[in-house]
Amino acid sequence: MDRTAYRRRFLKFLATSPLLAFGAPAWRDGGAAASDVESGVPKRVLIASHFGYMATGVDDDATLRANREGFSRFQIRPRRLVDVSRVDTSTQLFGVTWRTPIILAPVGSQKAFHPEGEIAVARAAGARNHLQILSTAATASVEDVAAARGGPIWYQLYPTDSWRVTQALMRRAEAAGCPVVVLTVDLPAGRNTETQARFAKEDTRQCSSCHLPGWSGFLRRKPMFDGLDVTGVSLLSPALTWEFVRRVKESTKMRLVVKGIETREDAALCVSHGVDGIVVSNHGGRAEESGRATIECLPEVVDAVQGKVPVLVDGGFRRGSDIFKALALGAKAICIGRPYTWGLAAFGQAGVEKVLDLLTREFELMMKHVGATSLAKVNRSFIVDSRTQ
Ligand code: FNR
Repeated sequence: MDRTAYRRRFLKFLATSPLLAFGAPAWRDGGAAASDVESGVPKRVLIASHFGYMATGVDDDATLRANREGFSRFQIRPRRLVDVSRVDTSTQLFGVTWRTPIILAPVGSQKAFHPEGEIAVARAAGARNHLQILSTAATASVEDVAAARGGPIWYQLYPTDSWRVTQALMRRAEAAGCPVVVLTVDLPAGRNTETQARFAKEDTRQCSSCHLPGWSGFLRRKPMFDGLDVTGVSLLSPALTWEFVRRVKESTKMRLVVKGIETREDAALCVSHGVDGIVVSNHGGRAEESGRATIECLPEVVDAVQGKVPVLVDGGFRRGSDIFKALALGAKAICIGRPYTWGLAAFGQAGVEKVLDLLTREFELMMKHVGATSLAKVNRSFIVDSRTQ
């Protein structure tokens, strides 16, 4: 297939049944989109090992699948005969108003998917006015990404095992104008990425021509570590406790959001440690194989924080109806990871914009279908929990 024909086919694919294939393990997911995957579309865009890194989960990919399947536990109760000629999808986070509650989650190493990586994502976020969260493992610097975004971004922090390095990362993000640091706490001890490893075996190239060995080799290729001595430093920090959260909070002027919370107990501890916000997340099914969907974790976290801090959620969001369910269950906003990464891989900035447009349109349409004219009017009365009804 020549490039134009392929491009046409992929755009058609995006415009019809796009997002199912983006994050779900399409080789198991079934449905229309999966056939495109099986017929080799993603492999034309990405090399097998990078596709494996992007698309897969841990162990048997059960949590990755659960993130999608969890949405079917909750159904929507639409209300009729409400004037929905205008709906307002805007949400506020820390005093800033966003056009929609759709946020770009931190995804590392985006130049593995497209040569413009995080810069293309930043331009798309700027063009469509979405919040972007930049990963510690980004392949572009926080200064360059903030400039390309044309406004503040949030910075995601992996707690390294060196306070000197962690502090330097925070200072740099703060100096680049990031108002919020998002501390990811769900990967204290590595992960078992078996499916990814199987994809990597299909890659016949010499990975060592790009990937240097060990953690320090990894960090030396990430711009946020430029100028730092990373000898012996790892992104994993198994000794981490709530004391670290307190220390981060005390050492920065940025607001502190903790990403990777799944239980009411930890949500309550976040609040008592002065955390400013929470992201309910299992890293897109890439951390522990809990088997539990984040949409199912969301209600207990929302109940535990009692409105004291905003709750965000990510994991498996592929449709406007998914977004609506999360907001009705009490989330202030949702984040997407793989969907925009796949758009990036296919068409750079334009692909990311297309994904954002599709999700925004679907979400707006759902607001109209259910008779919700603003997010303030979206609440649990719109939801049926099939387990308890
Ligand atoms: C991630 N995620 C992630 N999270 C984080 O805090 N720091 C990071 O560097 C990364 N890197 C990363 C790479 C890739 C390829 C993926 C797919 C994900 C997790 C991400 O922020 C988010 O939690 C999930 O992607 C949400 O699930 P979906 O939308 O991908 O299903």
